[in-house]
Amino acid sequence: VDVGRHFMPKERLLKFIDLIAMQKINTLQLHLTDDQGWRIEIKKYPKLTEIGSKRKQTRLGHERQSKEFDGKPHGGFFTQQDIREIVAYARERFVNVVPEIEMPGHATAAIAAYPELGSTGKQLEVGTYWGVYKSIFNPSERTILFLQDVLGEVIELFPGRFIHVGGDEAPKDEWKASPQVQARIKELGLKDEAEMQSYFIRRMDQFLTSRGRRLIGWDEILEGGLAPGATVMSWRGTEGGIAAAKAGHDVVMTPTDYLYLDYYQSKDPQEPLAIGGFVPLEKVYAYEPVPAELTPEQGKRVLGAQGNLWTEYIRTTQHLEYMAFPRLAAVAEMTWTPKQSKDLASFKERLKAQEERWRALGVNFRPLGKR
Ligand code: ACM
Repeated sequence: VDVGRHFMPKERLLKFIDLIAMQKINTLQLHLTDDQGWRIEIKKYPKLTEIGSKRKQTRLGHERQSKEFDGKPHGGFFTQQDIREIVAYARERFVNVVPEIEMPGHATAAIAAYPELGSTGKQLEVGTYWGVYKSIFNPSERTILFLQDVLGEVIELFPGRFIHVGGDEAPKDEWKASPQVQARIKELGLKDEAEMQSYFIRRMDQFLTSRGRRLIGWDEILEGGLAPGATVMSWRGTEGGIAAAKAGHDVVMTPTDYLYLDYYQSKDPQEPLAIGGFVPLEKVYAYEPVPAELTPEQGKRVLGAQGNLWTEYIRTTQHLEYMAFPRLAAVAEMTWTPKQSKDLASFKERLKAQEERWRALGVNFRPLGKR
């Protein structure tokens, strides 16, 4: 769940944890930082939330179609006490919370708070529109130590094994244009910007490993060489996951075509505005988390699959529930169920009883019969 683009107050998140626990989903990845917001208190660097948790407005509609903004400030963050409560609440329901702190891209909110972390020296504002930003952390020793300080506080709050460091969608334009970054690449004896990112992620891997944790990142962390302890989350299809599993790394599968729950779930023109794509319930259910390309031994590297709820277009609890249910029920069943026992007709039949439970709980699910 992405609380970076649209913040979700603690009470709403706790209700959502109840709903995923009901589906026997045992992991919640919280996407806590992005261009448009930094959502976790870091004691050593208070400006991350003082400045980074607020944006002055939000773009309406699709970027390609609209240049209109809502003119309304959006903000919010979890205090460290909130995080402790969320983690404890989840734990009581057998859900492990995996925090994600994005680097080196998707970092505009952090750079707005501490411009010295950026690669241009420019003062940025917290992002107000969606998409892939060019702004990126500079890879200096100072920035690496700053982010290790952040991760140091994060691991005190999240007792689980995995710490997610993002790594996706980090354009290298600013690194190419920066004499300091180019000098750093040379000084470290690296070949190019991809190896620079790989070095950056390796430093985080070393840090997390030294504290008994494991780094996980989006499949872009394969570029320029995968850090030795890294686990890969395969989102741009399954190739990244397959390559990582073959190289002996653990992987989590979340390919866009099957598991992006922010995509449309029907072709009905009345569906609420979504980011795009088309991932109906049946497609989620049909997904097989262990790619056929892997040997049984390599297949053991697949830790599981994940449904992603990015919230560019999801502003309310009602809308989040609508995108999540029933598709998360399919994520749970297809992930827990051996391939030969999967049965879509049976799943849909049993979903009728589940719909009654959701109705009783006031959950805004998308009914099966709806076109
Ligand atoms: C991603 O959807 N950028 C991981």
